[in-house]
Amino acid sequence: MPTKKSKVVVVGSLNIDQVFRVSDLPARGETISANHFQTTRGGKGANQAISAARQGVEVAMIGSVGNDENGRSYVTWLEEEENIDVSGISKSKYPTGSAFITVEEHTGENTIIVAGGANESLSRSTVQDLTPLIESASVLLVQLEVPVHTVVEAINIATRAGIPVVLNPSPMIPNFPWDDFAIAYVITNETEAAELLEFKPESNDLDYVRQEIHERRIQNLIITRGSETTLVYTREGDFFEVEPLPVLPIDTVGAGDAFAGCFAARIAEGASVEDAVRAANCAGALTTLGGGAQNPIPDREKVDQHLEQIPKRKLRTKRG
Ligand code: RIB
Repeated sequence: MPTKKSKVVVVGSLNIDQVFRVSDLPARGETISANHFQTTRGGKGANQAISAARQGVEVAMIGSVGNDENGRSYVTWLEEEENIDVSGISKSKYPTGSAFITVEEHTGENTIIVAGGANESLSRSTVQDLTPLIESASVLLVQLEVPVHTVVEAINIATRAGIPVVLNPSPMIPNFPWDDFAIAYVITNETEAAELLEFKPESNDLDYVRQEIHERRIQNLIITRGSETTLVYTREGDFFEVEPLPVLPIDTVGAGDAFAGCFAARIAEGASVEDAVRAANCAGALTTLGGGAQNPIPDREKVDQHLEQIPKRKLRTKRG
């Protein structure tokens, strides 16, 4: 079980999601009717914070919401219902961020458009002022839905304090300063991996990937692939795959966030990369079984119930 010292600090976004369930994603120039519409809480930062918190570790969130009803009720919810330390969430003069999401019913696939709003005003200096909070973490968890200079500042603070960083570079941006620091864990999906490394995961050119991640100072790279195995390239030069949990997804929104939050929580507790990925594969898959980004994120008990379905062995290992 987690100890008191297992703590994840998340620097990231909070959004209100407008979710439209549709039979087929609209084509360019097409107007379609939704089969169902729902407003829910989301944002990659908050989704990941909730996923980590439901694994039972301590979680603190640094972010920015609007000084509006959406923002206020969101912060209260995180504190009272999810047991997250919200002292690092500030109120902005801009409205709480929002996301427009379409979910295709027969595949569960989605498209997302984000209007950052208050997330855009999370500043470098705010993060500097919260240095002691970041320094209290066992793991810092960040994404790229808040300004990149703010994320970079948080990574620098954590790096100076010797705290491992989990970066989910989503949405992927050009010119992220990979050279400026070594990042312990980078989690991407296949599309982001292709952008990051100009690499097709299925080509599985191990030497190429090793070289590319070495150049970007990524110590461990984890590539999630939905219903396919998760690919893991470790700092020791190993490569292995972790089986997915077989599910029939109805909504994939937030699955990647559930993965990242669960992974960070398990790493904070001292789990191996392999065990953290096994748990995270369960968390990601189980999240696709319900609607919305946050509601279906599983707790620790649920993840543990499914863990033994994911073989604890490396399917392939190459050292070089
Ligand atoms: O990853 C899913 C999230 O992306 C949604 O909750 C939405 O707010 C966007 O940030």
